Amino acid sequence: MHIKMEGIHKSFGANRVLAGVDFELLEGEVHALMGENGAGKSTLMNILTGIHTRDAGSIIIDGKEVSFSNPREAEDYGIAFIHQELNIWPDMTVLENLFVGKEHTYGWGFLNSGKMKALAEEQMSKLSLSLPLDQLAGNCSVGQQQMIEICKALMTKAEVIIMDEPTSALTEREIRTLFEVIGALKSNGVSIVYISHRMEEIFEICDRITVMRDGCTVDTKAIPETGFDEVVRKMVGRELTDRFPRREVSPGPVVLEIKNASRKGVFEQVNFFVHSGEILGISGLMGAGRTEIMRALYGLDPLDSGEIRLDGKPVRIQSPSDAVKYGIGFVTEDRKDEGLVLEFSVRENMALPNLFSFGKNGWINDKAEKAFAEMLKDRLQVKTESIETPVKNLSGGNQQKVVIAKWIGIGLKVLILDEPTRGVDVGAKREIYQLMNELTERGVAIIMVSSELPEVLGMSDRILVVHEGRIAGELTSREATQEKIMTFAAGGK
Ligand SMILES: Nc1ncnc2c1ncn2[C@@H]1O[C@H](COP(=O)(O)OP(=O)(O)OP(=O)(O)O)[C@@H](O)[C@H]1O
Ligand SMILES: [Mg+2]
Repeated sequence: MHIKMEGIHKSFGANRVLAGVDFELLEGEVHALMGENGAGKSTLMNILTGIHTRDAGSIIIDGKEVSFSNPREAEDYGIAFIHQELNIWPDMTVLENLFVGKEHTYGWGFLNSGKMKALAEEQMSKLSLSLPLDQLAGNCSVGQQQMIEICKALMTKAEVIIMDEPTSALTEREIRTLFEVIGALKSNGVSIVYISHRMEEIFEICDRITVMRDGCTVDTKAIPETGFDEVVRKMVGRELTDRFPRREVSPGPVVLEIKNASRKGVFEQVNFFVHSGEILGISGLMGAGRTEIMRALYGLDPLDSGEIRLDGKPVRIQSPSDAVKYGIGFVTEDRKDEGLVLEFSVRENMALPNLFSFGKNGWINDKAEKAFAEMLKDRLQVKTESIETPVKNLSGGNQQKVVIAKWIGIGLKVLILDEPTRGVDVGAKREIYQLMNELTERGVAIIMVSSELPEVLGMSDRILVVHEGRIAGELTSREATQEKIMTFAAGGK
């Protein structure tokens, strides 16, 4: 299938999002679409697949002008879309999610779950993957949910597959599998639009790249004819030097310590500590128990045994409000469920954990709250029409910036960040790293769970690797390498 989009325009109200975008997808190519958060990548694909209508421009597929009025039509035409924001039905099983709207029935309407199961298993074995088909999808990890989305799209036998940040919740091993699948699809003539902020991935698997900036296409090039620096320059419109800003901090005393902590079937005998002013990186495979340990620290799940000490004294953390009271903040990996209230404005979301710091006698100080939100918006370059815009209208990466911003101003001792830069563009990533550095300079201890190895290596003072619910290894920033981390993560020594 050959797709040509020409002169695409789109505005949401007064906000012009696409201003004459051209995009061409050749048969059997993997075409990267890159650009800063809010550049218009997802919107362009939403227009291609009939989710949004365009204000102007044309879409020509195999020489014929087409227009889809809903995503189902695009799918019937052979275009599948793996969305950036996962569309999982939490109260349905994994199997039901895979076939939602496309259930196989016997002639008289009864669900043919045997057939669906067989098809799902066939697809999973192609991906060398096992998903718990009978489990509720809402109980799956974010990574598993992402795999559900990928499986679902692959089962439609599409000729074009759009992948909007497909790897953001996957670990190295799963990413490898996905890349093999992409290779196989390509050799069968399937074209792929690959949206990602991870430069290494783009250069590994893509044939061509189109860079967007502020709703326009800047350039399209063959991958061998360009490089990291050129792509970054085109994306952000300026030179960007060090990806991981260095800092000079000598960590202070131990602030937080977790001793012999266990939670049955999840993690066991976990021991670690973090110093004030230190960044402690937590690495490991998806499902190793990293998030679960953090949830327990933050009082979201109870510990079966073990102890948490803050400044040397044992504390009881039985709920997030206890944690916040002790000065522990948590940026969750799942922004949709736990991080943000999508209907609320940018300002309201940023102020949520801070309510007490703006209010006197329970009244919220409007002016202070506004100034605070404006400051954070500028600082993190949150792309939004105003701080009063509902968060659901922001692009994926900009939502992530709001999640981080929430926790900045509240005078924390310990900040836990779970996948802090997922879906965030290079420029804003650096801005988040810079903020982390500034927090450590103020003595905040940071625990950063991350599946991006370059990020763990680039930012941590010390790295713990979790394997099957236990701390499998500890590395200083000096001795750590990608290989050593991966060995520990796989259970090796
Ligand atoms: N439904 C909507 N209503 C209003 N504004 C919207 C809507 N959808 C997107 N926008 C705006 O359009 C712009 C482009 O968003 P889009 O999601 O296409 O960006 P993106 O390039 O995919 O970014 P990211 O890398 O963060 O995913 C953003 O400024 C966003 O706020
Ligand atoms: Mg997007």
